[in-house]
Amino acid sequence: MLIIALSKGKLLDPIMDLFSLAGYRSEALAKGSRRLVFRCSGTDVTFLIVRPSDVPTYVEYGAADAGVVGKDILLEQDCDVYEPLDLKVGACKISVAVLEGHASYDSLSSKIRVATKYPKVTERYFNQRGIPVEIIKLYGSIELAPVVGLADRIVDLVETGNTLKAHHLIETEVIAHSTARLIVNRASLKLKHRPLTELIQALRSQIIQGANGKPRMRRLVLRPRKPKTALTKTR
Ligand code: PRP
Repeated sequence: MLIIALSKGKLLDPIMDLFSLAGYRSEALAKGSRRLVFRCSGTDVTFLIVRPSDVPTYVEYGAADAGVVGKDILLEQDCDVYEPLDLKVGACKISVAVLEGHASYDSLSSKIRVATKYPKVTERYFNQRGIPVEIIKLYGSIELAPVVGLADRIVDLVETGNTLKAHHLIETEVIAHSTARLIVNRASLKLKHRPLTELIQALRSQIIQGANGKPRMRRLVLRPRKPKTALTKTR
């Protein structure tokens, strides 16, 4: 049996579409149930639905044989897993952003404050440039930090750019590009070589068909999302 950990949240729908077309379909999951474990119809595959940042842990420790997670999370976490396939969905960037009119580093005190949910990526990036930073770790709504004076900069995901725009923030630097990746447990690749190779090949053939412009699936792009309400908005 293969166990595959999927990231819940905005990656889940496009990833389930891709798995369905590759022959791994779960009717129960399509109904939007609150369950976290789903059998895949007609195959010996089970899906686990976990927090995106937990997917590498499930796979590294072998609780799942494979998983799907954004490259942004893999860059932040040093996990010992194989990363055999770029699934080419969920494209976004990890970017530095700042309030409009504050783009220059000159006016800032010696250490700049950067709010982020990616402390390691952020520290690496600024260290490499010799810019001293104080990192403020947040778990969400990162765009709020410069608006209320908690930080001089943010490092966060940018997908459409709507959330930045809604808070008068501008992207100043792109640190990395991210898409969803298939990751595989090292021992599982040996012990369950055949089903894992079949999975990788089935997914890869769907990605190649998509890249060739052939109709591959109803929706492989993320659905348009509404920007978060502007935090500066008053009644
Ligand atoms: C992510 C990210 C940005 C937003 C970017 O947040 O942290 O806030 O999406 O998307 P956009 O460029 O299309 O506007 P998420 O929705 O995951 O929520 P969070 O802020 O609670 O992490």
